Amino acid sequence: MTKKVLVTGGAGYIGSHVVRQLGEAGYDVVIYDNCSTGLPQAVLHGELIIGDLSDTIFLRQVFCKHKFSAVLHFAASLIVPESVARPLDYYANNTCNTLNLLQCCKITGVNQIVFSSTAAVYGEPKENPVTELTPTNPINPYGRSKLMSEWMIQDYGATSDLRYVILRYFNVAGAEPEGRLGQFSANATHLIKVTCDAALGNRPELKVFGTNFPTPDGTAIRDYIHVEDLATAHVDALRYLEQGNQSQTFNCGYGKGYSVQQVIERVKAISGANFPVIKTSPRPGDPVSVVACGNKIRQLLNWQPKYNDLDTIICTTLDWETKHKYLFSRESKVKKVEKLAPI
Ligand SMILES: NC(=O)c1ccc[n+]([C@@H]2O[C@H](COP(=O)([O-])OP(=O)(O)OC[C@H]3O[C@@H](n4cnc5c(N)ncnc54)[C@H](O)[C@@H]3O)[C@@H](O)[C@H]2O)c1
Repeated sequence: MTKKVLVTGGAGYIGSHVVRQLGEAGYDVVIYDNCSTGLPQAVLHGELIIGDLSDTIFLRQVFCKHKFSAVLHFAASLIVPESVARPLDYYANNTCNTLNLLQCCKITGVNQIVFSSTAAVYGEPKENPVTELTPTNPINPYGRSKLMSEWMIQDYGATSDLRYVILRYFNVAGAEPEGRLGQFSANATHLIKVTCDAALGNRPELKVFGTNFPTPDGTAIRDYIHVEDLATAHVDALRYLEQGNQSQTFNCGYGKGYSVQQVIERVKAISGANFPVIKTSPRPGDPVSVVACGNKIRQLLNWQPKYNDLDTIICTTLDWETKHKYLFSRESKVKKVEKLAPI
């Protein structure tokens, strides 16, 4: 029988790639998204329900109607400086809304969840690469809001039949190689996206936040993972839960760090564009260096990344940034539901 899964935030950047892979893998997918940063056109498979996770009555109706076998929970707010400026909004959207979702799982007996967490739960790690056993110590409200969500899932899992996979993503970048999906959020701050934007003349300059960090070239170091490989990790995680395996937390990264300066140099070399780079102060809440140890996910999920290469990540981003204005003028093809009839 086809399994029906709920994907919250499936109209967003990462969720839309996962929805496409779930569709290709034969799942029946229902997407629940308020389209605050996501777009209906990014949903290439399944049924899109436009709703907010804070609307608990509507959310419960959706759960009762569909009888999901599992939930993949992406919906969240994720801009670190914004979380520093507006912490309560982040705790409301990320932490409280995860609680709403867990309540619906409890009421309707959904006992498998894959949760989108983040390397931000580690804060400024004392060791690199970071393993899943590295102590968590988030240094901004975004990271704290996500860690609290992890704790809720773990605590509920300890007293119920809920099994979970928590995926802690490092820096997600790149776009679907076919060019239909990519990152489109207007206020995205992700380095590879904004650097490619600058290379294509979509922004006048690139700002580098912090050039005196204790790293070889003074700029911050991150581990960039291609969104297509990350999407595959979700399908692998879902299958792992379906096979009856126990709950786990995994880092999602390649285990190789690149500095901001190195990324800029590769984007300039690949695009042939020489855009202005402005040095500015570090942003509050930005750690110096965060690189994943990704051994555990490769071993337990047999996750096999295919796009583990900075140049590939940059090329797919440049390709997407060149095409996406045209692509997003297309009509959404999936079935859309904006209000359910009362049950
Ligand atoms: N992009 C990254 O580098 C990165 C890194 C680590 C973790 N993550 C996590 O991955 C997940 C997805 O991130 P993304 O980059 O795809 O972001 P995104 O903004 O593109 O996607 C988030 C989606 O959630 C929806 N959404 C937000 N609040 C909602 C609500 N209250 N109700 C219903 N829908 C809501 C948005 O409309 C959007 O479609 C997030 O949980 C984020 O914390 C992302």
